[in-house]
Amino acid sequence: MSDKVLSQFTPEKAEKKVKAAKKFRYGIIGTGWIAEAHVESIKMMDDVEIVAMADLVPGKAEAFAKKMGLDAAKIHYYPSHKEMIDNEKLDGVSICTYNATHAECAIYSLEHGVNVLLEKPFTVTLDEAVAVCKAEKKSKKLLTIGIQPRMDNNMKEIKRIVDSGELGKVYYIRIGGGRRRGVPNSTFIEKKTAGIGALGDIGCYALDMVLNAIGYPKPLTVSGYKSAFFGPNPKYNNPADAARFDVDDFAAGFVRLEGGIIVDFITSWATHINTPGDTIILGTEGALRIPSTDCWNGSVGGQMTLYKDVAGLQTEIKLPLLPDVPNGLFYQKIKSFVDAVRNNLPSPVPSSQIIYNQAIIDGIVKSSDLGKEIEIKIPKI
Ligand SMILES: NC(=O)c1ccc[n+]([C@@H]2O[C@H](COP(=O)([O-])OP(=O)(O)OC[C@H]3O[C@@H](n4cnc5c(N)ncnc54)[C@H](O)[C@@H]3O)[C@@H](O)[C@H]2O)c1
Repeated sequence: MSDKVLSQFTPEKAEKKVKAAKKFRYGIIGTGWIAEAHVESIKMMDDVEIVAMADLVPGKAEAFAKKMGLDAAKIHYYPSHKEMIDNEKLDGVSICTYNATHAECAIYSLEHGVNVLLEKPFTVTLDEAVAVCKAEKKSKKLLTIGIQPRMDNNMKEIKRIVDSGELGKVYYIRIGGGRRRGVPNSTFIEKKTAGIGALGDIGCYALDMVLNAIGYPKPLTVSGYKSAFFGPNPKYNNPADAARFDVDDFAAGFVRLEGGIIVDFITSWATHINTPGDTIILGTEGALRIPSTDCWNGSVGGQMTLYKDVAGLQTEIKLPLLPDVPNGLFYQKIKSFVDAVRNNLPSPVPSSQIIYNQAIIDGIVKSSDLGKEIEIKIPKI
């Protein structure tokens, strides 16, 4: 063996190898409620260290780090995403801000060479999502949208069933799900922070579940509706929250997708019915019923049923529920982001798909405001 080959195993080279596997330097933008789930998951990862945090509220980030049991003295704190990005060398950030600042935080991070895990919904408007996609393209950095149900085994099974061909050609999807009473509070209910209500909050999950399963065809037209009969009403909401509530608490839309597929969508934070129904996927060779959940942010609401004609018999197959993923969905969502950055893998939940999700949400808002069906136009990125 030549000296050259043997020298690879000298202590000096081994030292270099250890150094190469350095920890992933992580930053948190926005240290409110959902940042807790991010930090709890990151704490389980030996190869990731949180080095910086930013929040607009003075002192909030540092108090948050202490509350989360982190070594608070080792972390740098900043009054907004800008100072943090300007002053730190980060491998990636979780953007855990309210929806209204998603776009500016994501664009600034990407423009400054930082990989981004952006909490859902992608943005408030389609225009904002397009601007983020442009920044991503220019930066060549990784952007993933934090839709953790993608990591769930049962959600993955829906896609496997569609991909297997058991349903034949899918032609119609009705998305149910949503809450009878479950209007949130905090920053979710004001336009200035959330931008949109139930439609963006849980509607993005519902749309992602089925659009991902069928390969995210492009949306073409939408006839949308949104309303707010519960959130601003002190009969159904506490008076202080009712007084500041100015987003939607119910939304529906009839969407035509490329390939002749219809998506009939409904979502709610509040109605008078127990649930707006199961999700059904109709295909030429079979159909799937997915029991609804209150908020779509986890798994399916129970065993799915596959309907097929078997040798002429109309048959129903109850599918087994699959087990939870190790360490929970948030852990898997953050791990998939870190792994993708480290190993140059594709984005786990790419903006090229979620732009269509956002286009439908945006289309429902616009169509509802106009009171008629509209064409969905997505600018070139
Ligand atoms: N994936 C999930 O299951 C899930 C669950 C809940 C919330 N979310 C999403 O997470 C986001 C945050 O929700 P939340 O309940 O934690 O909100 P929150 O209001 O509790 O926290 C948001 C924080 O971001 C800070 N902030 C806003 N703009 C900032 C900026 N430019 N720089 C630094 N800090 C900034 C605010 O000061 C606030 O402290 C929302 O978009 C929401 O939709 C996701």
